[in-house]
Amino acid sequence: MTILGIETSCDETAVAVVRDGRHVLSNLIATQFDVHAKYGGVVPELASRAHLEKLDGLVEEALAQARCTAERVDAIAVTRGPGLIGSLLIGVTAAKTLAWSWGKPLIGVNHVHAHAMSAAIELDADPWPAVALVVSGGHTSLYQVRDYHDIVLLGRTVDDAVGEAFDKVASILDLGYPGGAVVDRRAQRGNPTMVRFPRAMLRGDSLDFSFSGLKTAVLYHIHGPGKTSGGLHRWTEDEIDDICASFCAAVVDVLVDKTMAAADRLGVDTVVVGGGVAANSMLRARLAERCASAGLRLYLPSMVYCTDNAAMVAALGCRLMSLGYSDGLELSASASLPPKAVRG
Ligand code: KG4
Ligand code: ZN
Repeated sequence: MTILGIETSCDETAVAVVRDGRHVLSNLIATQFDVHAKYGGVVPELASRAHLEKLDGLVEEALAQARCTAERVDAIAVTRGPGLIGSLLIGVTAAKTLAWSWGKPLIGVNHVHAHAMSAAIELDADPWPAVALVVSGGHTSLYQVRDYHDIVLLGRTVDDAVGEAFDKVASILDLGYPGGAVVDRRAQRGNPTMVRFPRAMLRGDSLDFSFSGLKTAVLYHIHGPGKTSGGLHRWTEDEIDDICASFCAAVVDVLVDKTMAAADRLGVDTVVVGGGVAANSMLRARLAERCASAGLRLYLPSMVYCTDNAAMVAALGCRLMSLGYSDGLELSASASLPPKAVRG
């Protein structure tokens, strides 16, 4: 089954053609980095406009690169949420238009579930049942994935997403936006035990996360207790490296401990990860270590499938269609899909 996938939930316009959920024939992403960088964050109106400008051309190019034609596409998959509503609407409207004009079925996909299952794209066999950790700029969630249409939320952030915390810490340290990759690079040179930042919600059974206290702890560490500015100049470049490393260590401790606790509780032997923060070197290394010592299989997707992409949307759409799901032209976008939705 050949699926055209469309992803426009945030600030990447992405289109992919995927066959049988596994063979990625094309996977294109038009980043809006330049549009938003000067504002230090995504501006929703500008994101919608950029999606609108890019989408048509990307669909044509994705088909051409896949050496595919509209006739040979079996269905259109599109991210229906969660995300920025204006951005989602551009993708959903485009997908509905294509489905109607090409006479093809349509399937709406949950963006976070697509992240959770993105590791499967590169595997020869399905990795389920598994615990899935989704760590991105907008989401931090742990799922139990039993099958492509059977995914249960185990825990999620009660405040900031982990990528958001990385971006805020980068902004506190004046390292640019988005800052996750820079904080990661600086952390690799630093000492992760230099500052003992708080590890929130590690006690007790909860699989929820909280990162806003950690972000504030970094802010006060930099500027002084209760202060939100004026202190950055006091720190040397080496000390900033140590602060980045100590922040990463606090984040990674919580993410890894909760993931391991979830796998243990559910008795599964497989862990998969998705989302842009899966690029983080300390997270990858620590997960690999802990999974190896606990005898768990760990699947970390290639970076192109970790960050926002349409291949994961097409792949999940394909699996859901195979399981008998599809949507009509009444499909609507939703900024906040219920996280416990059973269908992927
Ligand atoms: O999945 P993604 O591309 O977009 C969302 O769906 O949100 O994730 C983007 C997030 C940003 O917050 C970015 O700072 C973070 O992923 N990120 C990283 C790294 N690379 C990207 N965070 C930590 N370490 C990295 N190496
Ligand atoms: Zn995402």
